[in-house]
Amino acid sequence: MAGELSPIDTAKFVAAKRACDFVENGMKVGLGTGSTAAWLVRCLGEMVREDGLLIKGVPTSARTAALARDVGIEVMSLDEAKWLDLTIDGADEFDGDLNLIKGGGGALLQEKIVATASDQMLVIADISKQVDTLGAFPLPVELIPFGWQTSKALIEEMLSAMDVLGQRTSLRMNGDAPFVTDEGNHILDLHLNRIGNARQLAMTLNQIPGIVENGLFMDICDVVVVGYGDGRVEVRDINDGTVQEDRINFVESDNLFFDLMD
Ligand code: 5RP
Repeated sequence: MAGELSPIDTAKFVAAKRACDFVENGMKVGLGTGSTAAWLVRCLGEMVREDGLLIKGVPTSARTAALARDVGIEVMSLDEAKWLDLTIDGADEFDGDLNLIKGGGGALLQEKIVATASDQMLVIADISKQVDTLGAFPLPVELIPFGWQTSKALIEEMLSAMDVLGQRTSLRMNGDAPFVTDEGNHILDLHLNRIGNARQLAMTLNQIPGIVENGLFMDICDVVVVGYGDGRVEVRDINDGTVQEDRINFVESDNLFFDLMD
């Protein structure tokens, strides 16, 4: 079945598979959200079931929690875990300093809290997520429903003084209704095209009343595992400046896919 994966799914899968090498017995591991993180959860589940890997997972969303339980990973809350050895998550964009845009799946708040509570954050991504400058992907901002239109107006006013190429904002929808996060909040997507000073924008956004968190992850990610459609992977470590190249020779494994079947 693995042989039927599209190049993009192959890239996500091999990044996730290589990231499993960082996971050791006894670890408390933050589990990200999204399609790439779902591959990671499936791969870790297989290691738990078949190799006896002993880990506890702290999910970053209700859907990751459900998948983790489905594949056999013991799940605990961040309050139970308190501090994590490692968090592995996807990203919508990463730049050369491993700063990120996250939140395409609407889970940025828990993702940022969990990643920040970890000794190490590792991002898994296909090569299409790499950018020179952050901002082509709309920046998600989580805001509370109360007075969200006022918060939106304040954000737009603030953006006019920022080093960005676009200033349009849009409330994320789920069909006809506003999208609601696991925390009961809304997401405003900022269509900025290019963010000249991401650090300044991240800090300024969080000063606006009603904003809970933004999807810029600055100085949080330590390592990115980049996957390619032909099975190659690169492990880039921002702290020691190394790049390791590798190739994942995956064997067909129905067990990895059982949660995808009817
Ligand atoms: C969810 C996220 C995801 O990590 C991000 O959207 C990447 O998702 P995918 O792996 O499906 O491309 O931040 O809030």
